[in-house]
Amino acid sequence: MTCILYNRKLLWASFSFMVQKLVVGNWKLNGCLAANEALIGACGALAGVDMAVCVPFPYLAQAASLLSGVALGAQTVSEFQSGAYTGEVSAEMLAEMGCRYVIVGHSERRTLFGEDDATVGRKALSVLRAGLVPIVCVGESLAEREAGRVMEVIGRQLGAVLGSIGLQQLSRTVIAYEPVWAIGTGRAASADEAQEVHAALRRWLADHDAPAAGMRILYGGSVKTGNAAALFAMPDVDGGLIGGASLVARDFMAICRTAAANGDH
Ligand code: 13P
Repeated sequence: MTCILYNRKLLWASFSFMVQKLVVGNWKLNGCLAANEALIGACGALAGVDMAVCVPFPYLAQAASLLSGVALGAQTVSEFQSGAYTGEVSAEMLAEMGCRYVIVGHSERRTLFGEDDATVGRKALSVLRAGLVPIVCVGESLAEREAGRVMEVIGRQLGAVLGSIGLQQLSRTVIAYEPVWAIGTGRAASADEAQEVHAALRRWLADHDAPAAGMRILYGGSVKTGNAAALFAMPDVDGGLIGGASLVARDFMAICRTAAANGDH
């Protein structure tokens, strides 16, 4: 049974349906009205791939008005719904602004802004309660990888989210594997390294009774036009979370085209 659960080829063959890849741009702390307009103006929906861009909060309205066929997302969210929380932005507000996705637990939020596993779990819950899709980021540091602790770390990070949102909601999330050492460094995980962790992640999901075969696991960390094809050819890589390259329309569109060409497995 378990074997069928994570043998995606078998599953697709037996039910003959496909889930296309998802490519999400994470603009991080970049953009201005003029640059956003030019960037979005040069990005359009493509057949065979789902696309989204996660923009800074102040630009949500602008992006919502300009995007066509490309979903809107945010880069973080408050764990609270409303009240005396100066500076916070709730998931309900993001839904009202037209967001479909919200990134939670990005390593920059964890390391630079002190978000711990429990906070990430509560944020994922607030996103789901607003009817949006959390993109839950997990990933190990270089020291953790070198110590052979990759799945221990990722299992702990995902376990906190599962504990907060429960099994049923877990199936509504997108997972993004973003090894910390690959983010913004130009040193992406190799396709084999990514596949190894993605397969282990899918096993972890199956072992926790999640519908693992149908869940999307994105890879993020120095995805560029030159390495996207190899990464997206991997059976357990269901798309990408793209930082720097998503700020260059030509590169982002090329990466999306590569994802479309690789369909799903
Ligand atoms: P880069 O693609 O710039 O490495 O960033 C990856 C990332 O953090 C996406 O969320």
